[in-house]
Amino acid sequence: MTVTGTRDFFNQLAEEWDLRIRPEFVRRLHEILQELTLREGAAVLDVGTGTGIALPHLLGRVGVSGSVTAVDISERMLEVARRKLTAPNLHYVMADVAHLPFLDDSFDLVLCNSCFPHFQDQLRAVSEIHRVLKPGGMVVICHPESRDEVNAVHRSAGVAVRRHLLPDNEGMRALFTSLGFQNVQLTDLPDRYVLKAVKPGNAKVSVEGQPIPHERALIS
Ligand SMILES: C[S@@+](CC[C@H](N)C(=O)[O-])C[C@H]1O[C@@H](n2cnc3c(N)ncnc32)[C@H](O)[C@@H]1O
Repeated sequence: MTVTGTRDFFNQLAEEWDLRIRPEFVRRLHEILQELTLREGAAVLDVGTGTGIALPHLLGRVGVSGSVTAVDISERMLEVARRKLTAPNLHYVMADVAHLPFLDDSFDLVLCNSCFPHFQDQLRAVSEIHRVLKPGGMVVICHPESRDEVNAVHRSAGVAVRRHLLPDNEGMRALFTSLGFQNVQLTDLPDRYVLKAVKPGNAKVSVEGQPIPHERALIS
């Protein structure tokens, strides 16, 4: 499946996408985000935002002094998200994660909820996420299901996404570490998959109650 094929697939699903999102998926996402010590004023990038289910929570956390940028390759998904929510500090951008149109060191947090398996070039995606994160910034890759469940759903969801899989846990740790991330933490439980990793530097994030020195924008 090419990037164009993935875009077509999600464009076709956009209008009905929210009907597929189960209430417990939103609850689990909120729990995952709530554990992040995201401070007012932070700059957040939501990659593969889809219809924007994370956006109200993220905007509430960063406040009016912060910003949220919502990226997706599917213009129809972005249209649905924009119909539901606009704000002066919320920016919608149509882009491929493999070519993010942002300067280096721009964001305190990059979130990828339920989208990492769909990235055509996962190595390039992680490299781009690392580039646009500020030193000390954090990436969170998450799903409201286990890795096995995510992959089982994709394998049975038809030809378009059957090869869109989460690598095994060792592979994910190795991928993020090889591209320069530190503090890679991976949780794979029946009701959630969460990978957190930090770009080294002047740390602004604390991960699961373990503060990293010199925190600034994302404070424990
Ligand atoms: C399963 S949906 C999840 C949407 C949303 N994050 C959620 O949790 O409801 C995956 C999203 O990733 C987007 N996507 C897939 N490949 C992408 C890429 N290479 N760059 C940016 N977005 C991509 C799709 O268009 C789709 O909207």
